[in-house]
Amino acid sequence: MALPSRILLWKLVLLQSSAVLLHSGSSVPAAAGSSVVSESAVSWAAGARAVLRCQSPRMVWTQDRLHDRQRVLHWDLRGPGGGPARRLLDLYSAGEQRVYEVRDRGRLELSASAFDDGNFSLLIRAVEETDAGLYTCNLHHHYCHLYESLAVRLEVTDGPPATPAYWDGEKEVLAVARGAPALLTCVNRGHVWTDRHVEEAQQVVHWDRQPPGVPHDRADRLLDLYGSGERRAYGPLFLRDRVAVGADAFERGDFSLRIEPLEVADEGTYSCHLHHHYCGLHERRVFHLTVAEPHAEPPPRGSPGNGSSHSGAPGPDPTLARGHNVINVIVPESRAHFFQQLGYVLATLLLFILLLVTVLLAARRRRGGYEYSDQKSGNSKGKDVNLAEFAVAAGDQMLYGSEDIQLDYKNNILKERAELAHSPLPAKYIDLDKGFRKENCK
Ligand SMILES: *[C@@H]1O[C@H](CO)[C@@H](O)[C@H](O)[C@H]1NC(C)=O
Ligand SMILES: *[C@@H]1O[C@H](CO)[C@@H](O)[C@H](O)[C@H]1NC(C)=O
Repeated sequence: MALPSRILLWKLVLLQSSAVLLHSGSSVPAAAGSSVVSESAVSWAAGARAVLRCQSPRMVWTQDRLHDRQRVLHWDLRGPGGGPARRLLDLYSAGEQRVYEVRDRGRLELSASAFDDGNFSLLIRAVEETDAGLYTCNLHHHYCHLYESLAVRLEVTDGPPATPAYWDGEKEVLAVARGAPALLTCVNRGHVWTDRHVEEAQQVVHWDRQPPGVPHDRADRLLDLYGSGERRAYGPLFLRDRVAVGADAFERGDFSLRIEPLEVADEGTYSCHLHHHYCGLHERRVFHLTVAEPHAEPPPRGSPGNGSSHSGAPGPDPTLARGHNVINVIVPESRAHFFQQLGYVLATLLLFILLLVTVLLAARRRRGGYEYSDQKSGNSKGKDVNLAEFAVAAGDQMLYGSEDIQLDYKNNILKERAELAHSPLPAKYIDLDKGFRKENCK
């Protein structure tokens, strides 16, 4: 009896598993090695200076003289009335602990081995009315440029609370009777937060080059750069003397490759690999470089230099040579890719429906044209023309529309890039680091 439903079930299972396969297909290689963060096609004229941008503030080399990995934990409290959060206490991975308010000394407690076992929980010995509020457990990893935060809400009750703890969908809510101890749990056993002496800093940057037609796994190594300052150059001799990465690369997190002067034979795929083994950073940026003849400088697509959506909008990087054209293509995540494909299918369907409507209307007009009054046939004629135009316009839009969407996206990415290029570190990181140093120096 259940045969049809069983078939349906099997179909569903098959669909599901194929979707899972589709989904995991593109994320597996990323997990196995480094993940491709960006992929772009770049082009310069022969003889010019090419700059392949490869920057990450997380690769800035941080000296760690204490070998404590420069981590800090702080608990903050925002009272029920709102207002800014107040720093309660902090604990450094080197061991120092600070309690900010005198009345909290001996009342608030952290485990002394927090950075060894990852238990950053805060114990309040006897809860008072004023302890109620939103607590945050904040972990800064200065060495790895990481930040994590966890929130817990504390409610203070007169008698024993009906529900001592529950999850409000975002955070734990703890209800504790006045005078009783409260344990605000914050456990993070991620190895970067707990290990003290895992391995020496392993920051390595490679630049690879694939000549045209050569697959990624047979790329030539061009350069190795180590956080310790050591550098090794490989690669074909004709290229070796013309490539360079700034001497202060690890100080600025800027590993951009300069090739000067560019030759036609330099064409190929270049990739910049950033590895911070301790901090778990593995990123790859890919550049498909083409070299144009020096005289024939074809104008970029669209109107050159005029604010059309592709060429000028995001404010092209002024440091880049003139007369070249950078097109960034971000490798879509599998999900984004899926939706893009869906978009194409839907758009094609829409076009088809519009054409069908146009044809049907045209046929109907031809068939029933004589039955209409003059006025009406005039109307319907106008409608037809409009629809036909619309169909054509929609077709055009479909050709360009998807491109525009992608270009907008590209432009945002370009904009981000340009911003990154102008200020080597995003403000966010600067603030955090500065703040940390200030704290550290106090
Ligand atoms: C964390 O430490 C507190 C004492 O500071 C202890 O009561 C609690 O059980 C510990 N939690 C875990 C998960 O180890
Ligand atoms: C850009 O377009 C505006 C009008 O759309 C025109 O006045 C201007 O001359 C154009 N500039 C260039 C460089 O083509």
